[in-house]
Amino acid sequence: MPGAQTNSSWDVLLDVSGPGADPLVSALRTAIRSGVLAQGTALPPSRKLAEDLSCSRWVVTQAYAQLVAEGYLVARTGSATRVRWSGSPDQTKPPAPAKKAPRYDLAPGLPDLRAFPRKRWVDAIREVLAVVPHTELGVPPAGGHPKLRAILAGYLRRVRGAATDDVRICAGVTDGVFMVCRALHEAGFTQIAVEEPGWTRVWRAAERAGLEVVPVAVDEEGLRVKDIPGKVRAVIVTPAHQFPSGVVLSAGRRAELLAWAREVDGLILEDDYDAEFRYDRKPIGTLQGMDPHRVVLLGSVSKTLSPALGIGWCVVPPLWRHKVQGSAPPVLDQLAMAEFIEDGGYDRHLRKTRLRYRARRDALLKALGGAKISGAAAGLHLLLHVEPGTSTRMLIRYAERRGLKLVDLDTYRSSPGEPALVLGYGNLADTAVTEAVKILRSGLRDVEVVREPGGERDVALHLDPAADEQQRR
Ligand SMILES: Cc1ncc(COP(=O)(O)O)c(C=O)c1O
Repeated sequence: MPGAQTNSSWDVLLDVSGPGADPLVSALRTAIRSGVLAQGTALPPSRKLAEDLSCSRWVVTQAYAQLVAEGYLVARTGSATRVRWSGSPDQTKPPAPAKKAPRYDLAPGLPDLRAFPRKRWVDAIREVLAVVPHTELGVPPAGGHPKLRAILAGYLRRVRGAATDDVRICAGVTDGVFMVCRALHEAGFTQIAVEEPGWTRVWRAAERAGLEVVPVAVDEEGLRVKDIPGKVRAVIVTPAHQFPSGVVLSAGRRAELLAWAREVDGLILEDDYDAEFRYDRKPIGTLQGMDPHRVVLLGSVSKTLSPALGIGWCVVPPLWRHKVQGSAPPVLDQLAMAEFIEDGGYDRHLRKTRLRYRARRDALLKALGGAKISGAAAGLHLLLHVEPGTSTRMLIRYAERRGLKLVDLDTYRSSPGEPALVLGYGNLADTAVTEAVKILRSGLRDVEVVREPGGERDVALHLDPAADEQQRR
């Protein structure tokens, strides 16, 4: 920008405000990194720049000296101070603005974020900070903080029937799946069976770890164990409440799966997905409790508190323990979680949210009336089957234009199948149930029109915002 130094446009070029030399250092650094001040550009003498910027000469000499020390500028006696940084211009784009949240959210995946126990969490953090010895503020222990590990082991034994005294802390189920799959890959495994339909994020985690995922169908009893191909020796399952079909792995299939693992000398990764929420009976205990040598138990607080905490756990069979490596979430959060479980806050939170989700599920079922629904009375989602031939893609677009977020079951399959939607009610406001279902029902009615002969044009009209508006009036 050679012209910049010949007239007094430096005050325009450099956005400098605030006391001391730091703002000028920062403004010059940005101008150099972004390429506005190119390699070789001569900067004005300190007296001149100070005049232009209405600051003291000391500020400019300090800023120049700092940037010379950092290598952005070079100063030679008898010559101008010049830019000497020749890195590529900073291309970092500002982060994209957050997507506007839908007015009505029927997407699966989140618990009720309004219910996060903020006050209790603040209290737990405060308590931890008041008592934690300074010696525990050093490098975080591998596998997680011993206190949370011990408390979680007790919790999982008591609540999930797990057989363990050794729990390791990780950042969540996805992270745990990645860690275990990496260990499997290193041990020579090449494939892993996954449920179809299934939660594709864990499929991707397994692939990142180097394994090929092999989808195996799920029916009304859960994973079809007999369909696991001969050479496969590892599997990821959601026995307590399959995602997204909502079925519970039957007692027969549980026994069959454990027998399979022994026979092939394999490993079962049990994603204990939303097992805390069962509304018609006590939740089924873990598979891990039935065979701790063949099952890795994985869980997290993503469905009970919030995925933003990034706290999860895995219980690994003794033979695999030293092979599974990873890092844990921040120690202070781990200790807050330990405190929250220990003083009964977590149990109370689960009792409260269980009642809330149960009531919301009932309200949703009532509003959906005679619609074809499937899935156990559990968790945070259910399946809505729509008439064969209905375009779920059109239905989703129709709803989106009216502020309702819907998710297609096909999102969780390796190839399209019978049309259905996965309705997640975890994060749907109680007050929004009726309105959300009203939009969904009108969509089901209107989008069905597309199936009539010549109906394609009707769809185009329905999806036109002006026509939509007219139709609403
Ligand atoms: C089937 C299933 N398992 C586990 C999780 C939780 O994963 P994470 O602990 O990685 O957030 C989710 C979250 O959506 C899920 O759908």
